Amino acid sequence: MDVQKLREEIPVLANVTYLNTGWSGPPPQRVAQALKDRIDLELNEGPTSRPVQEQGRKTQAQACQAAARLFNADVEDVLVTRNTTEGLNIVLSGLDWQAGDEIITCNLEHGSVLLTSLATAKRYDLKVRVVDLDPHDSLETILGKFEAAFTPRTRMIFVSHVEYSTGLRMPAPELTRLAHDRGAYIMLDGAQTGGHLHLDMAAEGFDFYSIPGQKWVLGYEGVGALYIRRDLLERVHLAHSGGHAIVQPVDYDNVQLNSADMEKFHGGSSSVPLQAAFVEAVSFIEEVGIGEIEDRNRNLAARFKEQLVNIPGVHIYSPMEPGLSSGLVSFSLAGWEPPAAVARLWDDHRIVVRQVGYPPGIRASLHFFNTEDEVDMLAQAMRGLA
Ligand SMILES: Cc1ncc(COP(=O)(O)O)c(C=O)c1O
Repeated sequence: MDVQKLREEIPVLANVTYLNTGWSGPPPQRVAQALKDRIDLELNEGPTSRPVQEQGRKTQAQACQAAARLFNADVEDVLVTRNTTEGLNIVLSGLDWQAGDEIITCNLEHGSVLLTSLATAKRYDLKVRVVDLDPHDSLETILGKFEAAFTPRTRMIFVSHVEYSTGLRMPAPELTRLAHDRGAYIMLDGAQTGGHLHLDMAAEGFDFYSIPGQKWVLGYEGVGALYIRRDLLERVHLAHSGGHAIVQPVDYDNVQLNSADMEKFHGGSSSVPLQAAFVEAVSFIEEVGIGEIEDRNRNLAARFKEQLVNIPGVHIYSPMEPGLSSGLVSFSLAGWEPPAAVARLWDDHRIVVRQVGYPPGIRASLHFFNTEDEVDMLAQAMRGLA
């Protein structure tokens, strides 16, 4: 991977040390250009002129194909959404729950998992069991804790594949086996994995998986994708609906629902300019190579953690074990509230990181375009604050 050459394609990297891809990735020039081109086309020829419409449909199909490639899934099993959370909600609010069913999640979750499971539980009279993880739990401990949370009523494990606040890479294949052996499903929030980890829906046997386009894929906010295992599609009913779910023509006395097609979840229109950018972003990421990205990000994270260990007052929340690690590294520094440290890193060094809530810390996102020098610079800046 020619990191310096790739960096030249991402303009912001010439100006700041960007270590916040886990929130929103910096778009490459060509991704911005794809967005601008579509906006210009609509500006000059009108959004619904015949050729513009045709190209729009082509772009939407390409967006679905691009998402399917990220998932390693068939296009029929993929829906282009607006973001990760929309995909989680489509499944959670549409699944054929029975009162008393149970969802297992964990204490390290992002609000999108936490609140979606709690709101679903309230509406359908379900129980949410929260597994209490320590970010430094071993693989065996994590699996043991999840296993202990199962009851005969467990219907789903619902967790992030990579936890946003610690970067813990959940043992998703093992959790999937655990769930399937007990007749339960697994839904994974892939907000931190699409474009970061090599995914393979069929090989891993995941049931439901949702990703965004704006983080590690380096697209814009407003496009995401949802995968549903084909044999489960008819079990997910419409919690919100739109014309795409109806087999035409519309006849009020005889509405035929298109229940076996992912299209049924399209609530209405979607943004073609944003999808054009998503298509370009996915091809950029594919050219870099997702397998290589996964290795490089983990190596950058390991380099950073090795330095953090030696800074007095630093407590690392991210796992040290490579198999449980990702490109996210979070930590705290004694005497510094995370928001104050984040502000100082920007003010003094033009380094962009963020604070995270639980456990409260500073989080650096390390993506393939970040350099070893940038990692060392952040470590040096933390030494300065210490
Ligand atoms: C684990 C996790 N889930 C969900 C989200 C929300 O993602 P989106 O805005 O794509 O819905 C984030 C964003 O930071 C996240 O880290």
